[in-house]
Amino acid sequence: MENFEFVSPTHFVFGRGAEEQVGAKLSERGAKKVLIHFGGQSAVKSGLIDRLKATLDAAGIEHVELGGVRPNPEIGLAREGIRLCKEHNIDWVLAVGGGSVIDSAKAVAVGAHYDGDVWDFFETKQPTNDVLPIAVVLTIPAAGSEASKNTVMSNDELQLKSGYPNNAQRPKLAFMNPELTFTLPPFQTAAGLTDMFCHLLERFFDDVGAVPVTDNLNLSLMKTVRAEAPRVMVEPENYDARANVMWAGMLCHQGLAGVGRHEDWATHGLEHELSALYPEITHGAGLAVMFPAWMEYVYPENPARFAYYGREVFGLAPTGDVEADALSAIDETRAFFASLGMPTTLAELDVCEDDIEKLIPTLKENKGEPFGSFKKLTKDDAREIYRLAL
Ligand code: NZQ
Ligand code: ZN
Repeated sequence: MENFEFVSPTHFVFGRGAEEQVGAKLSERGAKKVLIHFGGQSAVKSGLIDRLKATLDAAGIEHVELGGVRPNPEIGLAREGIRLCKEHNIDWVLAVGGGSVIDSAKAVAVGAHYDGDVWDFFETKQPTNDVLPIAVVLTIPAAGSEASKNTVMSNDELQLKSGYPNNAQRPKLAFMNPELTFTLPPFQTAAGLTDMFCHLLERFFDDVGAVPVTDNLNLSLMKTVRAEAPRVMVEPENYDARANVMWAGMLCHQGLAGVGRHEDWATHGLEHELSALYPEITHGAGLAVMFPAWMEYVYPENPARFAYYGREVFGLAPTGDVEADALSAIDETRAFFASLGMPTTLAELDVCEDDIEKLIPTLKENKGEPFGSFKKLTKDDAREIYRLAL
């Protein structure tokens, strides 16, 4: 097992009506003026924003609003949030939404006390502890940003989508009411399931040997996501299915499922370039295409690890031919994503062969070279993986 540090400061309030406690819990922590940050439509239409404002009012907490975060959030709106924080002396950021809103809230919280441009942090990765505390009302289980240490932001001007890791931006409070996810369209539910499953794959496949305490937790989460996925797709208002998926989404990415391992993260790098070039590509859908392609390219490094995954997660019986078992596990992975209605080729995402060359320079800028852990990849390898996905 590799050395590690692990920080998880998030206080979770989970279950029906969780969001009604927002005002009281923020007041206990001394919040005086909150920036409510949210997305395009869904949280306003459902009345959630009005209900949250009422709980803040009841607790005597002032608030300022900034909506309009798009999927694959753009740094420009975060800059506007930072301006509002400075102007109104904001002391907490309340993110209402999914990964895009939470990531934008993290960028706002990191930049609120900084004199320069917040994009500096995404370029230099410099650490800072001077971060506004963040609370989250989660409306889509997917990215796991409600407890993760990362934010991922697009910069359209630079055509970059870059991450910034920092434990100080892990949310301090997360309100998770599975009922708030009943309104998710099937495509968003499916993309979320795919993303959380891929957060486990990124951690399971690396160049470290077995770490049973971590691997067994990881595999049990994979099995859970796989089992709950069809339930939640068929019965979107099944509270228990939604609840299991919501909690799993957090556990898949808060970090425990990878401690003591190196983790890989090559495929997330390959996907982020797709959604940087075409912001209309949903992260989970991009991963559904790229993960099986990455698997096909790298599995010869350690077919036994893939065969083990296939046995544990998909119940595949060993055939005595470990290469064949590995390939079956990859087929099952692709079939699982397809069963949710996810795309299986880049063509379905309107990405063509000519686009590949546009992805390579920014991939190199973001990930360096070589990148990944299970197999160390060069930009030529990346090209081949994109081609496999066409
Ligand atoms: O904007 P609104 O109208 O709210 O609609 C959203 C959005 O269109 C909709 N939605 C959310 N909750 C809803 C709802 N619609 C109906 N009912 C509800 N209850 O869903 C759409 C997608 O939302 P988004 O926040 O983009 O989804 P997700 O949570 O998948 O976040 C994706 C982003 O997270 C990043 C991705 O790269 C992507 O930018 N990631 C962040 C990570 C992190 N911070 O640790 C890790 C991940 O690997 C990922 O990279
Ligand atoms: Zn992801």
